[in-house]
Amino acid sequence: MPRHIVILISGSGSNMAAIVRAAAAGRWAQRFDARVAAVLSNRPDAAGLTWARGEGIATGAVDHKAFESREAFDAALASAIDAHSPALVVLAGFMRILTPGFVERYAGRLINIHPSLLPAFPGLHTHRRAIEAGCRVAGATVHQVTTELDHGPILAQAAVPVLPDDTPESLAARVLSQEHRIYPLAVEQWLAASSEVVARAT
Ligand code: GAR
Repeated sequence: MPRHIVILISGSGSNMAAIVRAAAAGRWAQRFDARVAAVLSNRPDAAGLTWARGEGIATGAVDHKAFESREAFDAALASAIDAHSPALVVLAGFMRILTPGFVERYAGRLINIHPSLLPAFPGLHTHRRAIEAGCRVAGATVHQVTTELDHGPILAQAAVPVLPDDTPESLAARVLSQEHRIYPLAVEQWLAASSEVVARAT
């Protein structure tokens, strides 16, 4: 059975698009029997959903505003995800805090990208905080998701310089271009490693 990747976004989805492009360019279907099966968002108007639909990818929205609790939202989100039988769930600019139950449900197959060199600057406003702290380098981290926010085993990192006249916006753009490089690589490495496990078991 093909291995399905489900990507969760909240906004423009540029990391999602980088992964979709890498899947085609890197022939993930042939090499890993893997494909991006769906892109889901907590925001029905997320621009990335329109882009994904244009690529012929199934999309869906579970609007967090329609739910009274995080648990109820996460249960609905999990149902939408599980409809695609995911081997891997990829958080790509997904801006909701997930409940421990949700994280445990996808343990070992849930990864995230965060725009800082974790464990520095978990949470929001990472670029402004890095500039205010006087950091000379900033960057991005791909990591496995655990129940602690923006923690978990690191899968990939990239560093960029912080320049003297940087604004949060200029630094974010420099970091984002590295995100587009390391996130597809990290997903590909995850697929390669899990393919070896499957091969050893058969
Ligand atoms: C990215 O910079 C990503 O690292 C960040 O949101 C942006 C999404 O951009 N994620 C977080 O801050 C998660 N805590 P994109 O929608 O264009 O991929």
